[in-house]
Amino acid sequence: RSANSLSEARKVRHSRPGKGQAVRCRPLSALQQNVSAAAAAAPAMEASTVDYKHSLLASREDYDKMYKRSIEDPAAFWGDIAKGYHWEQQWEDDHHTHNFDVTAGRISTEFFKGGTTNIAYNCLDRHVKEGRGDVDCLLWEANDPGTERRMTYSEVLAEVCRLANWLKAQGIKKGDAVAIYMPMLCELPISMLACARIGAIHSVIFAGFSPESIAARILDCKAKVVLAASAVKRGKKAIDLKSMVDKAVGFASRDGFEVEKCLVCHNTSAGGGKEATPMKDGRDVWWDAEIPSHSSECAVEWMHSEDPLFLLYTSGSTGKPKGVLHSTGGYMVMAGTTSRYVFDLQPGDVYWCTADCGWITGHTYLTYGPMLCGATNVVFEGTPTYPTPARSWQVVDKFKVKQYYTAPTLIRSLLSSGNDHVKAHDRSSLKILGTVGEPINPEAWKWYSEVVGDGRCPIVDTWWQTETGAHMITPLPGVFPAKPGSATLPFFGVAPSMVNEHGKAIEGPGEGYLCIKQAWPSTIRTIYGDHDRYETTYFAGFKGLYFSGDGCRRDEDGYYWITGRVDDVINVSGHRIGTAEVESALTLHPKCTEAAVVGYEHPIKGQGIYAYVSLIEGEELEDALKKELTLTVRSNIGAFAAPDILHWAPGLPKTRSGKIMRRVLRKIASKEESQLGDTSTLADPGVVNQLLSNRP
Ligand code: PRX
Repeated sequence: RSANSLSEARKVRHSRPGKGQAVRCRPLSALQQNVSAAAAAAPAMEASTVDYKHSLLASREDYDKMYKRSIEDPAAFWGDIAKGYHWEQQWEDDHHTHNFDVTAGRISTEFFKGGTTNIAYNCLDRHVKEGRGDVDCLLWEANDPGTERRMTYSEVLAEVCRLANWLKAQGIKKGDAVAIYMPMLCELPISMLACARIGAIHSVIFAGFSPESIAARILDCKAKVVLAASAVKRGKKAIDLKSMVDKAVGFASRDGFEVEKCLVCHNTSAGGGKEATPMKDGRDVWWDAEIPSHSSECAVEWMHSEDPLFLLYTSGSTGKPKGVLHSTGGYMVMAGTTSRYVFDLQPGDVYWCTADCGWITGHTYLTYGPMLCGATNVVFEGTPTYPTPARSWQVVDKFKVKQYYTAPTLIRSLLSSGNDHVKAHDRSSLKILGTVGEPINPEAWKWYSEVVGDGRCPIVDTWWQTETGAHMITPLPGVFPAKPGSATLPFFGVAPSMVNEHGKAIEGPGEGYLCIKQAWPSTIRTIYGDHDRYETTYFAGFKGLYFSGDGCRRDEDGYYWITGRVDDVINVSGHRIGTAEVESALTLHPKCTEAAVVGYEHPIKGQGIYAYVSLIEGEELEDALKKELTLTVRSNIGAFAAPDILHWAPGLPKTRSGKIMRRVLRKIASKEESQLGDTSTLADPGVVNQLLSNRP
């Protein structure tokens, strides 16, 4: 880690002391070495155009004109767009303010001040009122082929109202947090929308997190009600989810917080009757026993534009996961607008986003954005490669999917299974192919374009983050050429700034840290309960800028190429994992005295988790201990955070002041020991040879 941004951050923060640690990032020279640096490998000028007519934008000039206005006059630009949604009360003329400069006061963003609306109303009631109630809203496909469920917009609205009434009957009111721990059932987006309808703040917890992680999230936002499911089947494996919730609720209780109600959806597709799920009297109730008796009408809670909509916890370089808070109006408008422009989504379009609602993509591009556009959403419970890699294309063919949105990791995994599974199925319904979550290597991009899309579907490689709430840098299909591996150009209202280590903007082509200069409607508003940490994490590093944590390159055409994280966050299969979290989980094991985690290049996952572990005197890293350590991480975070490689480190490379030199660890992990660089500042240079001789 360089001292650059730290010293800069300290200067900036001088006048506004706060808790937490300023942003830490790798020096620019390290960007090229980033394991996921697809961009660095790709020829900068290669452009790809397919014949696609965007329904709203005729040309690059249209984009340029709109983009210019969105940056110069965001209030007027977004005001015009927001008129396309229902507002119970109109916003004020000067509805937009923001401050991104920590030396100038509290960091804040406000859009549509004075306006009131409700996102669930805009997602559902609006379509029903405008005569689209009979359009399919959700097309659910179970893990095992052969089971599906269709729900129209009217049906989803009715179910949302019933659940909203149930929540109200439990005493949930505007501003209360509700935790949701469910697999991909229709009930998951329904739960989110029911919360939004009554102004409750939902906190969806990915149904792969361990009880400890669930408990931490319940405790942080004091969620008295948990919406859960009995179980899920992923591929061949059935997973009991309710017992995870029970354990989590027990942990919360140990820490002095009582969950009052747990509503459990019986997931029949996971197999097993209700008797397999233990229920606690007075606390746990079944969805199908409770919800049908509630009214299918429920008055909407009109929310102020800046009222909180949801919380979603995400990992950073330090400390516990952060509760990213998004507010109502700006998030709604940006979720809807990006969906409309980037996927060219129109009412009734059959759209499939393979993300889980437990992550931000499932919030913005499975639930809110597409429903704001009136689209028909495929909700897929299973694993896209089960029972065979052809499953994805069977589903595409069966539902006649028009826009398909997934992560590079799945594309790479499908690519490795050859082309036959793709070619065997009709994909002529596909019009637009999207990718998200990590840099896509040009090879995977080209396969996606040429094999999956038969060379006729534009690819939209969308760069954004949990914190940005919506697409930030992304192609617009048919509007300007794409380049394999590039996220291309900023979306309306997004003003990127590529800076050097001193925060100085780099103009023209070059390479630097990716920051954003001014607020966009779905800017993260705060970290729940810790505004100081919010300011330090995102705004203290570079004065006046939001710092994304990513590095990037900009080419001669102004196209952006995301090179990956420059902080201590690793991106495994598009899932963001803080190295510090994995390290603290490992050291919970009594035999592990210290751990250091880095990312390394993984052919399918993008990055894998490489953990160096120091053990108590006399212990060696044998298979049994490896299993125990892996289990410790699984049970403290979740299976997806389990290290791919464990490397016994009798000593870790540290500077004389005791800081671990991660640069050295990254080089050893990526087998580039010939490029270790200067190790003369190590307290004990012998440690390096010891690590090299110890390779797992
Ligand atoms: O490093 C970037 C990577 O994913 C990070 C955000 O992770 P998360 O908040 O979990 O949200 C993922 C879904 C939006 C970013 O900091 N990332 C996301 N999209 C891309 C990407 N990296 C390269 N290209 C992308 N298209």
